[in-house]
Amino acid sequence: MSIRKAVFPAAGFGTRFLPATKAIPKEMLPLVDKPLIQYAVEEASSSGIEEIIIITGMGKSAIEDHFDVSFQLESLLKEKGKLDILKSIEEISELHFAYTRQKKPLGLGHAVYCAKNLVDDEPFAVLLGDDIIDSKVPVLKQLTDVFTDVNASVIAVQRVPTDQTHLYGIIDGVEIKPGLHRVSGLVEKPKDNPPSNLAVIGRYILTPEIFTSIEKIGAGSGGEIQLTDAINDLLASEEVYAFEFEGDRYDAGDKLGFLKANISLALKRPGLGEELSEFIRGLDLKPRRT
Ligand code: G1P
Repeated sequence: MSIRKAVFPAAGFGTRFLPATKAIPKEMLPLVDKPLIQYAVEEASSSGIEEIIIITGMGKSAIEDHFDVSFQLESLLKEKGKLDILKSIEEISELHFAYTRQKKPLGLGHAVYCAKNLVDDEPFAVLLGDDIIDSKVPVLKQLTDVFTDVNASVIAVQRVPTDQTHLYGIIDGVEIKPGLHRVSGLVEKPKDNPPSNLAVIGRYILTPEIFTSIEKIGAGSGGEIQLTDAINDLLASEEVYAFEFEGDRYDAGDKLGFLKANISLALKRPGLGEELSEFIRGLDLKPRRT
């Protein structure tokens, strides 16, 4: 069975980026020249996803406008002969988008649950737009390939230093093939004794039974309904796998990670990379205050 639908939780307040995110959704902050959320949407599209389901909230309408068709802008670009820009704008709005709102900030598990009626009864993907992953093969495609083999839920994981395990969902499991783990348990942001250093990164393929698990679990870490806890519950009835993907991941939900993602993606951009690299090399690289 192919994965056709992908859920993008995007209802958070973006408090880590205030004041920039007071009137602009965090998901619309630009990485080089594209809003953050577009990277994950493009990754989904190039992994075979046909339907993009975005979980939004108050003050997020710029996301809907961004992915909509803008006749005025498109005809202006056509008139001016700016066909390259036109193509980049047209391509993304050809995908099918659906939006639903998370009415209360009750956590990632709750955000995903808001998509229950839109997903219906088929396996689906979840992408957290804060996790920007630069890879040769789109990470979601790497996961859908694993899903085709194992026919069960698959989570993207990456090894992290032990002193950072408290920032992530951490899996316990057995490596059954290089990079592929059969999961036996998950803990959201363990305060101590993490079961491993394999951290959940924001790409998941989940069977629709996850919705029943979300209904069953209560509030977990941070008082929120955690997707990690729901996947842990799912393990009682189904196998779940974790896959160590290939790619460089940036936590763009954090100021430093966002800056790193901007710099390293810009360095790879034709027409920007060379001059930026020269500029960086010419900087006095000691941290300083002005
Ligand atoms: C979320 C998940 C966590 C996962 C992380 C990856 O946490 O709850 O399990 O490891 O994303 O980015 P957040 O970073 O939203 O607190």
